[in-house]
Amino acid sequence: AGPLKIRATAANFPILPGPKTPISSPFLLYQTEHAGKAYQNPILRIESGSRFTASLDNALPEPTIIHWHGLHTPAAMDGHPVNTIAPGGRYDYDFTVRNRGGTYWYHTHAHGLTAKQAYNGLASFFLVDDDDQRRLAKALDLRLGVTDLPLVIQDKQFDAQGKLRYQPNAQESMMGWLGDVVLANLTPNAVQTVTPRTYRLRLLNGSNARIYRLAFVTGKKRLNFTVIGTDGGLIERPESVTEAFLAPGERLDVLFDAGQAQIGTDIFLKSLAFDPMENEGPAMPGMAGMAGMEHGAGHGAPGVASSRLTLGVEFNVLKLSVTAGERIVAKLPATLSKVSAIPLQGATQRKIELSLENMRFLINGRTFVMDEIAFDVKRGAVEVWSISNPTLGMPHPMHIHGFSFQVLERLGSPAQVSSSARFGKGRTAGDLGWKDTVLVWPGETVRIAIDFTHDFPGDQTYLLHCHNLEHEDAGMMINFRVQ
Ligand code: C2O
Ligand code: CU
Ligand code: CU
Repeated sequence: AGPLKIRATAANFPILPGPKTPISSPFLLYQTEHAGKAYQNPILRIESGSRFTASLDNALPEPTIIHWHGLHTPAAMDGHPVNTIAPGGRYDYDFTVRNRGGTYWYHTHAHGLTAKQAYNGLASFFLVDDDDQRRLAKALDLRLGVTDLPLVIQDKQFDAQGKLRYQPNAQESMMGWLGDVVLANLTPNAVQTVTPRTYRLRLLNGSNARIYRLAFVTGKKRLNFTVIGTDGGLIERPESVTEAFLAPGERLDVLFDAGQAQIGTDIFLKSLAFDPMENEGPAMPGMAGMAGMEHGAGHGAPGVASSRLTLGVEFNVLKLSVTAGERIVAKLPATLSKVSAIPLQGATQRKIELSLENMRFLINGRTFVMDEIAFDVKRGAVEVWSISNPTLGMPHPMHIHGFSFQVLERLGSPAQVSSSARFGKGRTAGDLGWKDTVLVWPGETVRIAIDFTHDFPGDQTYLLHCHNLEHEDAGMMINFRVQ
C-alpha cells in the first residue's frame, strides 16, 4: 500500500467537550490518510514482525522529527534529534517492528522543542499485536475502541479564549510544566459509559511533567483493578491492585470490572493525593531562597489564591457511568505471557547518577550535547544500571531509547511506593514485565537490567533521558553508543 504519509501540521482541533468544559484549540497534529480517509493523530496498529514504512512531512514552521517510544529500531529510525527535519522537510521511516505486542506510542523529539510540540498535540498511540494479545482479547471479548480503550492522560492550561497555553517561566522550566485541566483522550471532564463487565484500559501518561497515582473509586470505596501489562506488553500473570503510579512516558495496561459498582452509579478513575517529593529545601544547592517554588505557583498574581492543580493533589481523570447491561464476570487467564528474566551472570555494572547543579538536572554530571557520546556499550552485552536520585531533588521518569529493560530492584523507596511493593526487591506491579521508562523517586536507587543484543549493522547511538519533557529539553539527556 506504500508508506503511510504523516504530516506534522497545525490545525484547529476541537477538544471533545466534556459536560462542563467545551474547548476548541489550535493544536499541532499528525495527519494521515489511509484508504481514502483522513485521520488526525491516528492510533497506529501493526502486527509484531511486520514492516512499518512511513514518511513524515514537516508542515510546521519549525524543526521536528518523530520518535517511536519503546520500539527497538535502528538508530536512524529512532527519531533521535540529530535527524530533525527543517520546515518543508521529509523523513522516511522503514523498519521491522521487532517488539512484542503492547501499547507503545509516538511523539515529536526535536531537541529543545519536544516539550512544546508534544504538549501542543504531536503524540499518539502505536499499538503492536501478537498472539498473546489476540489470546487475551479473545478470552475476554476485548474489542479496540469498544471494550479495549487506549486512554492518554494529559494535563494542559488554556487561556480565556480556550487557546492552549504553554509559557513556562524559569521555575516551570526547571520543575516541569503542569496543566490545570486534566484531559482523557483530549477530553476534559471525560465520561465513558460502561456496562457491568470487564474493560481493558491502555493507560498512557502523555503529560509533560505530571505523575498520576491512579485508582478507581466509587463513593468512598476504592475498587480493585488488574494490571496485565506495562510499557513493553503483557506481564506474566494478572496482578490485582488498588492503585498505581504512572509517570510521564509510562504505560499501564489494566483490566477493570465495571460490575463492581451498581448500575446507575458512577466510578471515577482518579489521581489520588500523594507527596510530590519536590524536595526543594533551602539545603538544595542552587535553589536556596526560592521559597514558595512549587509546580504552578509561578503563574497567578502574588497573593491571589491559585486554582492550579499542584503536583500531588487529588482530581478526577475519567468518569465511568455504569449503565444497564448483561453482567459478565470475566475469568482472567492464569498466565498472560512469558517474560524470561534477563540472565545476569557476567553483566556489566554501570552507575547512572542524577544530580542538580546550577538549576539544571544532570545525568552522570552531563547535560545533553548532540554529538557527544556519554558511554559505549558492547553489542550483545547485558548491563545492570543503578540509577540513583539524590534525596534533595524531585522524581525523574528515566527513559531509554532502543531497548526495553527489566526492573530488578528498588532501594530506598518512599513509603508511598514501598507500601505497594509486594513483588520482591521493592518492586510494584508497574515495575513488572518489560519497561522503557521507570520513575526514580528522590532518595531511590532503581536497578535495571538491559540486554544490548541487536542485529543492526554498525554502531547505533541512542538516548537515555528524563521523560519530564521540560527536563529533557533542558538537557537531562545523554547519548550512549551500542557497538
Ligand atoms: Cu518518549 Cu525520547 O522519548
Ligand atoms: Cu522513547
Ligand atoms: Cu527529570
